[in-house]
Amino acid sequence: EKVILAYSGGLDTSVILKWLSEKGFEVIAFVANVGQRDDFDAIKEKALKTGAKKVYVEDLRKEFVTDFIFPALMGNAIYEGRYLLGTSLARPLIAKKQVEIAEKEGAQYVAHGATGKGNDQVRFELNYAALNPHLKIISPWKDPEFLEKFKGRTDLINYAKEMGIPITVSEEKPYSEDENLMHISHEAGKLEDPMYIPEEHIFNWTVSPKDAPDEETLLEILFKNGIPTKVVNLDDGTEKTDPLELFEYLNEVGAKNGVGRVDMIENRFIGIKSRGVYETPGATILWIAHRDLEGIAMDKEVLHLRDMLTPKFSELIYNGFWFSPEIDFLLSAFKKAQEAVDGKVVVSIYKGNVTPVSRYSPTSLYDQALSSMDVEGGFNAIDSKGFINIHALRLKAHNLVLKGKDPF
Ligand code: ARG
Ligand code: SIN
Repeated sequence: EKVILAYSGGLDTSVILKWLSEKGFEVIAFVANVGQRDDFDAIKEKALKTGAKKVYVEDLRKEFVTDFIFPALMGNAIYEGRYLLGTSLARPLIAKKQVEIAEKEGAQYVAHGATGKGNDQVRFELNYAALNPHLKIISPWKDPEFLEKFKGRTDLINYAKEMGIPITVSEEKPYSEDENLMHISHEAGKLEDPMYIPEEHIFNWTVSPKDAPDEETLLEILFKNGIPTKVVNLDDGTEKTDPLELFEYLNEVGAKNGVGRVDMIENRFIGIKSRGVYETPGATILWIAHRDLEGIAMDKEVLHLRDMLTPKFSELIYNGFWFSPEIDFLLSAFKKAQEAVDGKVVVSIYKGNVTPVSRYSPTSLYDQALSSMDVEGGFNAIDSKGFINIHALRLKAHNLVLKGKDPF
């Protein structure tokens, strides 16, 4: 029987690969390149040596940017006000490709290495179910036989040694990290103590804002229908228009300037609180610039309504419901709301800060004369008198009733 295993090359999925093949499965390893800085040839080699019959390495980076990161940006997705959802957004893409491979290979099973306490298991399994309800799911970290055999990291390491699976130095680090184009996350180990202040060596993308250049960088970011189309560095003239290159460039500039570090306690879907440390430089810049452009180009009531939906949208992404009717519904509404979000924003990047300093929109709803303190601009100030009087009616009545007086 054939199983498609989402394989990272790390300790857990290597042990799982071996364990599945020892159990008699024909294991096909699927390695998703979502922008993690790995040596994919070496991972492929390792999968084959560990017992995979076949290995798929798929470059999903462009699709990640255009079909997941940019749609999330349309809704300004952010979980619990702080987490930009780097891992949550990559999981549905990985699951989608895994299901496609299973269908192509005629496999009955898909497998993943996420633990039974986390969010990723939920995301993988909800996505598999949504995309192909006939596939059977193997999740070793919820399998009594696997759990009996592997009680902790030492058991994994011993099994790997026994089976000749090489263990890298980074696997000896007790941190759980997840890296893709959008972010790198750090969890577990010493970070489990919420009072522990992360040491500099934990961060691997960004410099500390303290060590960032003492000089601001000005970036101009252009948008069409709320989607980034171009980034220009106003200091050295660098230009990027390809979605992937543009996003990678924002990561580079952000990382150099200490942008996008977040350290938080978050609520997992299953109800456990968890400490996460994130580095999300490029998306942080993009989210701030995009939100600023909406200020000038988006209708007030549409903006306020959309802002009410953002927490729900973010929670759905976090909880693993990317492929769901409710997300389809929200995305079509967000697309409509972004129709006039055209133009450009200049952001100043300086020691961890991203500050919009200028914006322009050809579809601007901002009327300089109307907004001005110095000119009348066709506005009749006397009209405001009635506007306020009418709003005040209710408040006056409420106050009188409170005092036991008849308002009428
Ligand atoms: N806490 C974050 C989330 O749930 C990051 C999870 C990282 N996953 C991992 N396998 N290390 O989206
Ligand atoms: C895991 O449990 O595999 C990683 C953390 C998470 O999914 O929340």
